[in-house]
Amino acid sequence: MGTPLGAIYSTNITPDSQTGIGSYTLADFARAVRQGIAKDGRHLYPAMPYPSYSKLSTADVAALYRFFMKQVPPVRQANLPSGIPKLLSFRWPLAIWNYLYAPSASYVAKPGHDARWNRGAYLVQGPGHCGACHTPRGIGMEEKSLDDSSPSYLGGAELDAWYAPSLRGEVRTGLGTWSKEDIVEFLRQGHNRIGTAFGSMAEAVNNSTSYLSDSDADGIATYLKSLPATSVQQAVAYNNATTAALRKSPTAQPGGGVYAGACASCHGFDAKGFTPYMPALVGNPVVLDHDPSSLINLTLNGSVPLLARGTPDAYRMPQFRQQLSDEDIAGVLTFIRNAWGNGAAVVTATQVAKLRKTTDPSSDRVIILKMR
Ligand code: HEC
Ligand code: HEC
Repeated sequence: MGTPLGAIYSTNITPDSQTGIGSYTLADFARAVRQGIAKDGRHLYPAMPYPSYSKLSTADVAALYRFFMKQVPPVRQANLPSGIPKLLSFRWPLAIWNYLYAPSASYVAKPGHDARWNRGAYLVQGPGHCGACHTPRGIGMEEKSLDDSSPSYLGGAELDAWYAPSLRGEVRTGLGTWSKEDIVEFLRQGHNRIGTAFGSMAEAVNNSTSYLSDSDADGIATYLKSLPATSVQQAVAYNNATTAALRKSPTAQPGGGVYAGACASCHGFDAKGFTPYMPALVGNPVVLDHDPSSLINLTLNGSVPLLARGTPDAYRMPQFRQQLSDEDIAGVLTFIRNAWGNGAAVVTATQVAKLRKTTDPSSDRVIILKMR
């Protein structure tokens, strides 16, 4: 994983006795998962989301332990040292960090809410660690909040050059227009009538959320739909004028020529896509967000294949790194953010140039991200 301080390598957690966790007792395992302390006393970097896993129930930690010890085949492979410079890699400040930011108690059911809501809250805050990507971080890189007691919880955040949008009730930039069924479909299939998972969310869907049971996915949707909006927004009203103008003379609107030439074949002149396979670009929170990182990254680099429970979907967003200049990408993204009734800040060529460099597939940093 690339971090601002240098690369961190995730460790061998197969039950190999020498290079993995084969010698861990249940208590050692619980301490590592819930408190971020390895068997030898080493503090783990919080890139391992133990501040979320601290909320796991004792029964779930024991079930995980049995799974690792009994069903994961041991692999002999030594861990790699982190690339964090020596002076910064002293791990003792992590003990202070933990004292300040990491909770230590299992999730406690909140009174006044039913079992389904509480199950959803447990999955989102604990094992799902949704906040690790979706909650903004504070001055110590800690998640600003770890539960719904704060309006910053799941309020949207940038991580590894992707922007994970708000999962709260805003009608433009959050899940305000999504039904519970829309959320369930997105988590289990990776797409719905509004959008498609890409970037780091595609990894979350491929490896985790597509395996959720119906009732757990419903619990998560129930919980997310209960998080109130933190700003009052006006829902997008579809406006067909852009479509008519595009058909008549694409180049008459800045960015319109690039859209007609490079994007319309899949997303449509009307931007309604062909959902759930080709996402719509109208009223889509990813398109409307104030932070355009995901839009730029996706347009430059395309998306990894979506594999809902092992079945690949047939359509991909291609990469435009070679075909389009920084100005072209800034222009077409500014165009889609302000056409068909959408409305969002301009994207600048400088923003595109920056992400073109930091997400360059030939640079070390990206190779590290790809390994994950
Ligand atoms: C070959 C078909 C194709 C073309 C051409 C194409 N896209 Fe996409 N696009 C997709 C697919 C499929 C997705 C869904 C994400 C994925 O699965 O990769 C997507 C996703 C997106 C998204 C994210 C929306 C969401 O909710 O997933 C945006 C924004 C986007 N495309 C913009 C563009 C722009 C801008 C262009 C032109 C520069 C473009 N696309 C060209 C197929 C295409
Ligand atoms: C590794 C980082 C990461 C984790 C963990 C993660 N997400 Fe995401 N999520 C993202 C990113 C980045 C996006 C934006 C790209 C997209 O729309 O697919 C996103 C998008 C979404 C969207 C679509 C929002 C929209 O407005 O289009 C939903 C819903 C969502 N995530 C729910 C969840 C839930 C629920 C969890 C926990 C079970 C979770 N995510 C965990 C990174 C993550």
